Order: sequence, then C-alpha cells, then structure tokens
Amino acid sequence: MIKYGAVMVLAVAAVFFAAGVLYAGVQPNKEMQALMDSYLAAAMKADPGFKGFSAEEGKAFFNAKRMHSANKEERGCTTCHTTNPANKGKTTVGKVIEPMAPSINKERFTDPAKVEKWFKRNCSWVLERECTPKEKGNYITYMLSI
Ligand code: HEC
Repeated sequence: MIKYGAVMVLAVAAVFFAAGVLYAGVQPNKEMQALMDSYLAAAMKADPGFKGFSAEEGKAFFNAKRMHSANKEERGCTTCHTTNPANKGKTTVGKVIEPMAPSINKERFTDPAKVEKWFKRNCSWVLERECTPKEKGNYITYMLSI
C-alpha cells in the first residue's frame, strides 16, 4: 500500500502542474499567487482527495442560480456580473461593474484584500454563507482562463 505521505506529495505535484497549465492565460501577481496557494492548502486540508482547482467547476459555480431563502429571489454571481465575464455588469441599483475577466480588465485579481472583501460580501448575498476556499480557487481559475 502506498503511504499517505507519498500520495500527498503526488497530489501536490499534480495540483501545481494543473495550476501551471491553467495559469498559462493570465499570470497572477505574487500576492495573488500567495492567496491562491492558501486556498489550495485549505482545500486540500478539507478534502485529501482534492485534485486541484478547475476552471470548469468555477464556470458552473459562476453560472449557478440559487433561491435566497429569506428574499425568495433567484440569485447568482451572474445577477450582477452577467453570464459573460468579458462583459460589463450592473449592480442591483444599476451601477456599472467593470468586466471580471482579467484578460479584459487588468485590475482584476491583483489585490488580495479587495478579492477577499468582495468574496465575503457577494457570497453571503448569493449563497447566504461564505464561499469555501475551493469555490474561490475554482472561480478565480475560471476567470484567469478566459
Ligand atoms: C449584487 C451584485 C453582485 C453579485 C450578485 C455578485 N457580485 Fe461580485 N462584485 C460586485 C461589485 C459591485 C463588485 C466591486 C466593484 C468592482 O470591482 O468593479 C464586485 C467584485 C467582485 C470581486 C472582486 C474582483 C477583483 O479583484 O476586482 C470578486 C472576487 C467577486 N465580485 C466575486 C463574486 C462572486 C463569486 C459572486 C457570486 C457568488 C459575485 N461576485 C456576485 C457585485 C456583485
């Protein structure tokens, strides 16, 4: 039987390889890479079978709609950001939101404090809870892949 430690080393290597491939589009800066690494460590701790972030899962998460229990209103990330991250979005009061895709909007995902602030706010507005490190990593991986 392969030892748990060896499996972990292989899993970590696979994750970094996958991440390297996915980051081929837009490269995160050092601060953002550190934030992604912390999401990765947390996701692996929560699930030892975790295989690395997936742009596909991030896309599904971004496009998912959910019924808000208190407001009885269908909400999703796309409510404000639209289904195309390359497009401008709109807040519920009609204020323009610049595109989410960093290939279009260079300021996206450059400041970990901003990223964390808006994850906190928007995840609770949509999901009535905070997003998990896995959801956050998948979401950013999807955005970087566009
Ligand atoms: C009610 C409207 C609204 C919804 C719904 C929404 N967002 Fe946002 N989002 C905003 C606004 C407003 C900003 C900040 C303005 C800006 O950065 O242009 C923002 C910014 C962000 C940022 C910061 C990106 C950066 O680095 O510049 C992240 C991350 C984010 N949103 C993730 C999400 C996720 C994930 C969801 C779905 C769970 C979501 N948002 C749903 C309105 C929304």
